Amino acid sequence: MIIKYISADAEKGTFVHILDGTNQFPANFPKELIDASADFEKGSKNQLQTASLHATYILVKSGLDAELYRKEGAKIASKIEDLEQKVCVTGNLSSLPFLVEGLALASYKFTKYFTDEKKRKAIQEILVDSKLSENQLSELNATIKAVFWARDMVNEPVSYLTAEKLSDEIKNLEKQAKLSVSVLGKAQIEALKMGGLLAVNKGSIDPPTFTIVEYKPENAKNKKPIVLVGKGVVYDTGGLSLKPTAGSMDVMKSDMGGAAAVIGAIYLAAMQEIDVHVIALVPATDNRPGLNAYAPGDVITMYDGTTVEVLNTDAEGRMILADALAYSKKYDPELVIDAATLTGAALRAIGHHAAIVMGNADQSKFDALVEAGNTTFDRVVQFPFWDEYYDEMKSKIADLKNIGGPNAGMISAGKFLEHFVKAPYIHMDIAGPAWLDATSTYHTAGGTGAGVRVLVEFLKNYK
Ligand code: BES
Ligand code: MN
Ligand code: ZN
Repeated sequence: MIIKYISADAEKGTFVHILDGTNQFPANFPKELIDASADFEKGSKNQLQTASLHATYILVKSGLDAELYRKEGAKIASKIEDLEQKVCVTGNLSSLPFLVEGLALASYKFTKYFTDEKKRKAIQEILVDSKLSENQLSELNATIKAVFWARDMVNEPVSYLTAEKLSDEIKNLEKQAKLSVSVLGKAQIEALKMGGLLAVNKGSIDPPTFTIVEYKPENAKNKKPIVLVGKGVVYDTGGLSLKPTAGSMDVMKSDMGGAAAVIGAIYLAAMQEIDVHVIALVPATDNRPGLNAYAPGDVITMYDGTTVEVLNTDAEGRMILADALAYSKKYDPELVIDAATLTGAALRAIGHHAAIVMGNADQSKFDALVEAGNTTFDRVVQFPFWDEYYDEMKSKIADLKNIGGPNAGMISAGKFLEHFVKAPYIHMDIAGPAWLDATSTYHTAGGTGAGVRVLVEFLKNYK
């Protein structure tokens, strides 16, 4: 999918025009819609449509808020039947980027595994008003690339996307943006004594990986880097504490959604040449009940020397994240943010509409993140982070245990992780928004790419 400037006047396709109060319409725009536009502006509908033999013309109202334009864009995407036709968008230049963003995001399809040619078709090109700035155009294209990449990764099943494949896919991004990527394999992870990552990997026949991505612009405004950490569980069966309920494993290929979010974000930051120094870390493995799988009762010595009593092997995300978070100390970061599909509790608490964030970073950082969430509508909501929740994580025989009490599991999980971070910290539990069973507006079914846009908006405005 690519967004380009309209060059020659196309005759076939879908023509979308956002009213801008100038009474100027694209050439060939049907008189019938132009005549109706004044009444339409005053009415309650946001779109007005007419079709000829080869073309569909759609008028869109002016003055809606950004998210409404994204949603109007998604509506347009769902109307287009002949996906090979052109889609042209003209009109109000301040609303147009949002409509195009929604239209483009809604046009995503994960078609790789269809053998039928027809099912592999998706909208290929969106043509936009040539008055839109070059910057806005490239920003839109970069956003689409990064979000589509993240969605692809989440949608890839573990039959393809093992930990090593995930690392390969991340390595590939080096060619597409100013990033440097290094991948640690099992021997290096063993040498580093990343006990949490190795424990989760014990039931697997595929080796774990630890991927380090750096984006370091010359004009970085931060002296010390921001480190992003993403949960890269490429498949979560629960391990020996096998996921119990029917269907609960069906979408567990999405358990690397945090990795997809942080890598999508650093990739987008690099494409947009944002002036912030960022490092992203991805510990990756599948979690399976293999013959040598880690077991409830095991005591694991983590990368930083902390001992953890494993009481549920399905609480594996925190085991691998803890090592990566402790590893971040090496960079002396200004701020550490992780993203993870960490708890069912987060999904139950908020549904698919937002990520839950918590941590010990300055409140101004949370305010900025919430604002970035509202701007992009890749929303986050802050939860408390009181030490009382940490008490739940203390073990009778080791420093910590890997599960807390029955309630507010997203917070006790966050407190467990906090133990391993030696810098101001924000934890994002994206278990809710990372995956959708059914398409909703411009969030296509499957992996959503949640986290990418909000993180980049946060980095862009970072002070
Ligand atoms: N990957 C799951 C969390 C999850 C559940 C994400 C549903 C998306 C949808 C995580 O590894 C997990 O299994 N968490 C457990 C933790 C519990 C054992 C303390 C959970 O939430 O039940
Ligand atoms: Mn699990
Ligand atoms: Zn998991």
